[in-house]
Amino acid sequence: MSQITPRPGRIQRAPEGFLSPEQIREVSAGRRDFLRTAFASASMAVAGTSVARAADGDPAILTLPEHSTTLGRPVAERPYGAPSQFEAGLRRRESPGLTRVAGSSVSFSPLQGLFGIITPSGLHFERHHQGWHDIDPARHRLMINGLVKEARVYTMDDLMRLPSVSRIHFIECGANTGMEWGNVAVPTVQYSHGMLSCSEFTGVPLSVLLDDCGIDRKRAKFVLAEGADGSSMTRTISLDRALDDVLVAWGQNGEMLRPENGYPLRLVVPGVQGVSWVKWLRRIEVGDQPWATKDEAVHYIDLMPDGTHRQYTSIQECKSVITTPSGGQTLLDKGFHNITGLAWSGRGKVKRVDVSADGGRNWRTARLETPVLSKALTRFNIDWVWDGSPAILQSRAIDETGYVQPTYAQLRAVRGTRSIYHNNAIQSWKLADSGDVSNVQVF
Ligand code: MTE
Repeated sequence: MSQITPRPGRIQRAPEGFLSPEQIREVSAGRRDFLRTAFASASMAVAGTSVARAADGDPAILTLPEHSTTLGRPVAERPYGAPSQFEAGLRRRESPGLTRVAGSSVSFSPLQGLFGIITPSGLHFERHHQGWHDIDPARHRLMINGLVKEARVYTMDDLMRLPSVSRIHFIECGANTGMEWGNVAVPTVQYSHGMLSCSEFTGVPLSVLLDDCGIDRKRAKFVLAEGADGSSMTRTISLDRALDDVLVAWGQNGEMLRPENGYPLRLVVPGVQGVSWVKWLRRIEVGDQPWATKDEAVHYIDLMPDGTHRQYTSIQECKSVITTPSGGQTLLDKGFHNITGLAWSGRGKVKRVDVSADGGRNWRTARLETPVLSKALTRFNIDWVWDGSPAILQSRAIDETGYVQPTYAQLRAVRGTRSIYHNNAIQSWKLADSGDVSNVQVF
């Protein structure tokens, strides 16, 4: 019988159901025989995919629980739904000490506990430079100025009456996995890769607004996006990209954006690092050259091995990570396990994901679950039977341009070890014979 414990964070959904915290502590302490005793009537198919137990004598089947014999709670008791009380461990988490103040910090998405490709809005990671605000949409304005025939100011009502589109895209902070450049720094996938989320965004294409203002096609080459928070967040975006698939969005997963994610208006810049997805968007200026603002000249730049800084790296290159089993979890027994994870590329669709259980010597191709969308997260799964011996689990993604996710050795050969941003190296999880999974780096 196999079981995965969730340290830290949540109790993982597992073949048998859920374990109590006491049971998890017991198992985490290395007493793996516990499960065999607890489920004495278990039937286990080691080589196959069946992990179900025989029904004989199972009290969860034989005794009718209270919820089957009493009236449940009324509808509309919770006009806005919330997760089950049993899911309380699934939450965004801060990395203590990462920044001096929480107003200018990060909360990471719990990738290890999510299914499919959509991040629930309440679990979308947050990255603020000067904290977040809940801005009154009636008072919010978007101005478009610069190299346009007529500078215009839009209210939210003006924007929301325009023809809108809805598209699913990932957003990844350029600093995601940034703590891992030099060596292993964090224990779980939530902290190593959790500055990553994927939502359905709804808004108006920026090209519609630029046309509306009469952009100067001869001179215009770039736009500058500016946020309404105190961080003076401003980013240059090339006009080609701005006219391609950039959205001025108010919707996220079927409802208005959450305040932390830019309510009432944010820029969606598919495939590009998160810093360009300006939140609380209040101004777009059209110009003929990059602005070299603080958030592009000094921050979000790549320190190269020769000591120079590379500016304007924007595309999030192809990357993947196994989310289960991943660091901090424990496989409670050998036998069948589903290895699952996420892959994405800022250049389009993911074409293939390979998975290795021996540190990259042998690879098998994983199943890509539909939908496989451009510049969106793609879920992969692969069947695996663990024989109980130590293993190194890795995933390697390839996108539709043919780009292959690099090893740490390949990435460091070009980028060195002192960067913060744009680390898309292959992640390794070490599985010990105890079943414990931990973060390691393989070169
Ligand atoms: N926009 C404004 N106005 N202020 C900010 O601090 N942070 C940026 C970007 N847009 C930021 C911003 C960064 S660095 C990232 S990674 C993303 O927003 C994070 O978006 P999220 O908080 O919705 O996950």
